[in-house]
Amino acid sequence: MRRKLGYADVTPKNLYLSRRTLMAGAAGLAAGALLPGGALARIAAEASPYSIDATPTAYEDITSYNNFYEFGVDKGDPKAHAGALTTEPWSVVIDGLVGRPGTYPLEDLVAPARLEERIYRLRCVEGWSMVIPWIGFPLADVLSRAEPGSGARYVAFETLMRPEEMPGQRGFFQPLDWPYVEGLRLDEAMHPLTILATGLYGEELPNQNGAPLRLVVPWKYGFKSIKSIVRITLTADQPPTTWNLQNPREYGFYSNVNPAVDHPRWSQATERVIGGGIFAPRRETELFNGYAEEVGHLYAGMDLTVHY
Ligand code: MTE
Repeated sequence: MRRKLGYADVTPKNLYLSRRTLMAGAAGLAAGALLPGGALARIAAEASPYSIDATPTAYEDITSYNNFYEFGVDKGDPKAHAGALTTEPWSVVIDGLVGRPGTYPLEDLVAPARLEERIYRLRCVEGWSMVIPWIGFPLADVLSRAEPGSGARYVAFETLMRPEEMPGQRGFFQPLDWPYVEGLRLDEAMHPLTILATGLYGEELPNQNGAPLRLVVPWKYGFKSIKSIVRITLTADQPPTTWNLQNPREYGFYSNVNPAVDHPRWSQATERVIGGGIFAPRRETELFNGYAEEVGHLYAGMDLTVHY
């Protein structure tokens, strides 16, 4: 697969230096040091082979141009309001068709040794994209530990519901039904490209990007990447998903990136690269966001214009 060095040569210097400190910390961990604060973003020195060969978008753009409707519908709202969200302590309920249901504290879910950097392109259905150097670990780790039952075929996810800290969940105008929910087929969820992210750019996840734990499924449109997860439920039936509930004609369950299947209101053939400047040419969107080789088999025989 494609990968390139990392982002030492394209990252603002202060971030690069803080990343080096983190890497030194990772070496310390390997030597058996206790976990100090910030352990959720500690990364191994080696970048993942699953990373794409692309220059990461600037940290400033990744953390100030967001969709997180619990904090408002404008791109700047999450950064402006998400600071008020309390992310410690945090736990995730894992239930449904699993052998080991329970409420798992975040620290128990995240094994520092499994964290790695994944440079993925996030392609939003609205027609823009960014390249994000996530820190995360395979969702399969968590699912396997919970021991999926033989009848489990889907995985449902749920975001925190906390109107006191999430202005988009209170007041007269609420853009979506809460909590935000998403879902994957179990084989999609178990795919090694699918991760739970705890950080980006070598640091803990900023709240506006879905702290302390968010899903990242790089071959699907960005809205599948549900933020601030509090519940993961294994089910026999396809679970409801927020944008499909909102507008089923426009948003399907699968939501695989596909330049040949347009959204009813927008072409999906090309994308605007955030941070590229107003004269930058649009990028041609790739089938499955560039991962056709890795995930194409999951959809063999399916009509992608029906299962959009
Ligand atoms: N998760 C929750 N809980 N609420 C949201 O509004 N927006 C989604 C997704 N996850 C959203 C969410 C959409 S539309 C996108 S494109 C991505 O988060 C954006 O992730 P980013 O802000 O980290 O780029």
